[in-house]
This record gives sequence, C-alpha cells and structure tokens, in this order.
Amino acid sequence: IELYLDTADVEEVKRFDSCLPLKGVTTNPSILAKSKQGLNETLKGMSETFSTTPRFHAQVVSTDVQGMVEEARQLNEMPYDMVIKVPATEVGLAAIKLMKKEGIQVLATAIYSAQQGFLAALCGADYLAPYVNRINAMNGNGVEVVADLQLLLDQNQLPAKILAASFKNTQQAMEVMKLGIEAITLPVDVAAQMFAHPAVQPAVDQFDQDWKGAFGDKLSFE
Ligand code: E4P
Repeated sequence: IELYLDTADVEEVKRFDSCLPLKGVTTNPSILAKSKQGLNETLKGMSETFSTTPRFHAQVVSTDVQGMVEEARQLNEMPYDMVIKVPATEVGLAAIKLMKKEGIQVLATAIYSAQQGFLAALCGADYLAPYVNRINAMNGNGVEVVADLQLLLDQNQLPAKILAASFKNTQQAMEVMKLGIEAITLPVDVAAQMFAHPAVQPAVDQFDQDWKGAFGDKLSFE
C-alpha cells in the first residue's frame, strides 16, 4: 500500500517521514488555504525534508476544462513527482481525458459514489480518491463505496489505484485497508492514532521501571 499524509504542514511531514514509510503527501485547496502557505513554498519545504523522493498530489483550482488542463501542465512542470488532483465532475472528467492524452498523472478526487469513481477510471485517471468519512457523514457507507469501486476496477481490469481519503478515525482507515486498496492518505491526527493505543506507553514504562530497578539505566550484557 502507498501511504500518504494529507497535510500542508512541513513539520508534520518531517515527523511522520522519519517514523513511517511515507510515499508522499496529498493536499487540497482547503488544506493549503488553512495553512496560509502557498503551494510552491509548501512543496519545496516538504521535498527538502523528505528522506526519499516524495510523490505529491496537488489539486487544480480552475473550474473550466481549459483552465484545469493549463494548471495541470504547470503543476506537472514542477521539479517533483507530481500527480494532479482533479475533481471528478463532468468538467473534471473532460479535463482528465485531455490530461491523459498528454501523459500527465491524474488523481480523480471528490468521489462520493462507486459509479463516479468508475467513470473517472474509464477516463484514464491513475488514482481515485473516495471520501470515506464525508460519505459516512451523509449517512452513506464509505467502506461499501470503496469495496464496490474496487470490484468494478477488478472486473474491468482497470489499472487505476484507489487512494482512499477523508478519515476521521483509525477504524475507518482499517476497514478500507482490509479491502486491499493500493493507497491511502491520512490526516495527521489519524496517522498519530494508528500507533497510539492507550496501553502501549504504560507497557513500555513498566519495562523501564522493572529494568532500572534491577540493573540501572543501560542494557547489561553480563
Ligand atoms: C484528499 O484527497 C481529500 O482532499 C481529503 O482527504 C478530504 O478530507 P476531509 O474530508 O477530512 O476534508
């Protein structure tokens, strides 16, 4: 599975890149707007801090086909491994078809149903981002949407990878990972929860206390 962090925070990228095998970072216009830091500065900072060559998924903001394609070309010229995020709307699907003719890597985003994701895959999208928590929040079933989409991809032998997005907790993330999806992006708080079981630190503290009580600070090999 490809593991991404969904953020524009360079310090958090540094933190998680050091303890997890991060493939790269996903952002969207809302995340960047909140961080108040431009795309250029954000990607530069992240690429400098990464221990490997990261893959960045960055989104177009134009709302017409030509504008999206032009932005995709510009993003694609940045000196990084870029995947261009395009909302899987009617306009976005038209733009995806044109981008794929130019060999640009595309992620179809804002996917709320399996059929919507399937159409994006038929248009040539390389990645598909179903919004699991947002679907659940609308009384839908995000995990079911992901499962149906994976089934359609498999049946039609389409190479698109599901990059599951929008998570509120680790349970949602675990449920979609169990489906065998190929990529996932986690917000910082959910990524931290993945290894933060409440019993872990007390267990480690007990080892520490027992060892130090008997032998002192360091490992003894005698
Ligand atoms: C990533 O591609 C999406 O933009 C993001 O995961 C949406 O997450 P949210 O529903 O928490 O805003």
